[in-house]
Amino acid sequence: MPITLIIGTQWGDEGKGKVVDYYSKNADYVTRFQGGNNAGHTIQVEDEIYKLHITPSGVIQGKTGVIGNGVVIDPEILIKEINELTQRDIKPNLLISDRAHLIMPYHKLLDGAEETKLGAKKIGTTKRGIGPCYSDKISRNGIRTIDLLHPTILKEKLNRIIPIKQKMLALYGKKDQLDVTKIYADYLKYGKTLSTYIAPTHLILNKAIKENKTLLFEGAQGTMLDVDFGTYPYTTSSHTIAGGAAIGTGINPSYLTKIVGIVKAYTTRVGEGPLPTELFDKTGEHLQEKGHEFGTTTSRPRRCGWFDLVVLRHSTMLSGVTHLAITKLDVLTGLKKIKICTHYKLKNETIDYFPANTEDLEGCTPIYKIFEGWNDLPSTIKKYSDLPNNARVYLDFIQNELSIPIKLVSFGPKRSETIECSNKLMNINRGLNPSNI
Ligand code: IMP
Repeated sequence: MPITLIIGTQWGDEGKGKVVDYYSKNADYVTRFQGGNNAGHTIQVEDEIYKLHITPSGVIQGKTGVIGNGVVIDPEILIKEINELTQRDIKPNLLISDRAHLIMPYHKLLDGAEETKLGAKKIGTTKRGIGPCYSDKISRNGIRTIDLLHPTILKEKLNRIIPIKQKMLALYGKKDQLDVTKIYADYLKYGKTLSTYIAPTHLILNKAIKENKTLLFEGAQGTMLDVDFGTYPYTTSSHTIAGGAAIGTGINPSYLTKIVGIVKAYTTRVGEGPLPTELFDKTGEHLQEKGHEFGTTTSRPRRCGWFDLVVLRHSTMLSGVTHLAITKLDVLTGLKKIKICTHYKLKNETIDYFPANTEDLEGCTPIYKIFEGWNDLPSTIKKYSDLPNNARVYLDFIQNELSIPIKLVSFGPKRSETIECSNKLMNINRGLNPSNI
């Protein structure tokens, strides 16, 4: 049974939570493979709204949620989420990889201190300790969930690592912030609470594949925040592309054959860094207000811009996206003209790829095609052909340019505001050719 993998194709916040919830219906296991509680997934079930940061969203459907080895876990936040779900009568069925790394108090302190030190050049991180935790993992100074079950090893590691972190924090002007005894006691307590969930999840997932179970992998953040292929250094610290799913779970990459790219009908990003199609006008305000574009994790306003095909070419190529799921189409309703960036102009050259260099990106001017808008997307829409003609022209252009069929369109937060499509590619042309400016 192939694994369905859900990937964000832009700068995160594409609406993955809703799509994961949709695909979870048929899944036995829903797995997170990277990131941590920097993510924020909102799922609306009828009038109930759930906001999850670290727990895989599939648990709301009663599925087994797996937190893979590639995830970094703040145990305090995870326990809080488990308790909140339990209070709402959802007893999460959870498995946590014994190899996943733990976010420690010094990671959070260092994340904040490094950002302050960078000043105007700050990354705009979520300050959840994500980057420092992944740094420790790579430099082999990390603490893993398995260590919570071995108090002597945990104590030995903390005694070795904390004095070094103390010195690092002092360099940032933060002296004597860490109390080894308290951190040890807190993490032992977290270990007790989480011990029943900690398991060799790579073995469990591989067994599930053999038993023909249905697996769904849930990406966090988006391709443009990938530490290698995003807008480095304005990225997160994990691999958000499809390749990250194999590494972050311990499954064979050949099982990743159904890759759903989540695509917001326009573009947003939180934090600093290049955003070539960013809008600073009334249209940007329209997208922000109508799309409720405020971060789920930090409540920061998201920067908004037109849809960017250069980004989508990059992200769908990197992850081998086989299906597109378009989200938040309703947010574009009411705009007279809608633009799609097809290429960038860079130093008199027209380019169709995403440059590596921040300075080059800042010098890129988007080249747009203009589309006619639509005035209404009634909630009675049940199939692709019910969409207004101009909306279909817009979406057809995207799927034809990428040669990837749209399989899902979401036009509101409710489960019912989703249509499944049986689109096939090639020459979908409704006679309204978009024009260049
Ligand atoms: P970090 O992941 O907290 O280190 O933040 C690095 C960058 O990724 C910042 O620009 C954040 O705003 C951004 N980021 C991290 N997580 C998310 C997310 O879930 N959605 C959107 N942006 C995110």
